[in-house]
Amino acid sequence: MSTTLNNADGKSWPADLDLAARTFWERPFAEREKSFAKLRAEHPVSYHRAYESSLLPPDEDSPGFWAITKFEDCRRVSRDVESFVSGQGVLMEDVPEVVTLATTSFLAMDGPEHRQVRGIVSQAFTPRKVKQIEGWINSEAKGLVDDIIGLGEGDIVDLYAKMLPGRIFAFFFGVDAGSEEMHTIMEAAERMLAWDDPNCALGRDALTTFAEEADRIQEVAMARADHFREHPAENLVSWVVNAKFEDRVLEDWEIAAFFSLLGSAANDTTRHSIGHAFRLFHEHPDQLELLKEDMEGRLDGAVEEILRYVSPVQHFRRTAVKDAVVGGQEIKAGDKLVMWYCSGNYDEDVFEDPTTFDILRSPNKHLGFGAGGPHFCIGSALGRQMIKATLREVYTRMPDLHLTAEPELQVNNFINGIHAAQAAWTPSK
Ligand code: HEM
Repeated sequence: MSTTLNNADGKSWPADLDLAARTFWERPFAEREKSFAKLRAEHPVSYHRAYESSLLPPDEDSPGFWAITKFEDCRRVSRDVESFVSGQGVLMEDVPEVVTLATTSFLAMDGPEHRQVRGIVSQAFTPRKVKQIEGWINSEAKGLVDDIIGLGEGDIVDLYAKMLPGRIFAFFFGVDAGSEEMHTIMEAAERMLAWDDPNCALGRDALTTFAEEADRIQEVAMARADHFREHPAENLVSWVVNAKFEDRVLEDWEIAAFFSLLGSAANDTTRHSIGHAFRLFHEHPDQLELLKEDMEGRLDGAVEEILRYVSPVQHFRRTAVKDAVVGGQEIKAGDKLVMWYCSGNYDEDVFEDPTTFDILRSPNKHLGFGAGGPHFCIGSALGRQMIKATLREVYTRMPDLHLTAEPELQVNNFINGIHAAQAAWTPSK
């Protein structure tokens, strides 16, 4: 297998396979997928120079990364925690260590430390807990549709897709739905994870965007934390600040880091999944008809196919701590490996006809929530539930919802984001 094509050997990747180029990520998702398909077929594990990062611009000594493009190889890397760790960074591009520490919480931890912090919060997000709040999510979805159904048109991302996770997470943060703090968290979460996108950077450099927006989330969370230390209540901030796990409480900086992780991981991913769902059903009216024909029977399948097809989180990174072999390729201790979930989700060895959006696809064991192992998404049940409630409510009451302009997509190698989507529907009461 050829995996030697890389800049380190003096051979450059052609532009369409150069994952390290910022311009690669300015191309549409479908174009990028053609490149990933080529990599999967010809160079499933391939070495690339360091990303042209504006977060921490690389110098000539900056190491590159292995691109893992096949479904099974992603699963192998994600599950083999003896060989591959998260604690040395989880993004394809380097971020100053202090910023990682302040913003990623247990996402970038390993072993017992990871188990401990994840353990404090995971009980809030079990499928059973989400089942209990299912009715509440459904009624929030209904309330949002009540608010917008009479308008007949507008940016459906702004009016709906970002509002549902925003309102649900307002509760987790212990802030009022619709309050200024809720809007701050929603806005900051989008901008923080879209550091490369001019709509989100607003003239700032990437690192400043990332750090300032994380700060805004943390300010809200810490103000609430101070409040709930004095007045414990039934919400996640209160729970986290007062929780003891193996006789340990979280320190302030850990609480702040946890809430920037949660504010972004939970809000932004779900919001973009919902935004893309509206785009996909606009582009595939036959699939919308299928859904409407048997809404309850087909909702779950539709949610899974949206997550596979969109791959809202396009990658996560690990670092090898021992020599290993992945997909036949030797990996050295210290090497970075980037698992391309957006590629594994289109792996022809696992998904028949992968570029077809098919809500009846079965089985559909995608990598939308990660590739297994200890970092598998803690909020998968909640995320699924929010998308499901949306599809049911929106396409029952606004069945002719359609886009009226090309959606504005984010330029981003991490999140597959949709910034805005003008839409219209028949107004009613
Ligand atoms: C559709 C929406 C969502 C998508 C696509 C998504 C995707 C992901 C992915 C791919 C990972 C794996 C990280 C890895 O492999 O290292 C992850 C982890 C995580 N997600 Fe989600 N997520 C979603 C919703 C949520 C929600 C609603 C929450 C809030 C509760 C959440 C909280 C987290 C946290 C805290 C982690 C880190 C887990 C750990 O490191 O142990 N996510 N998510």
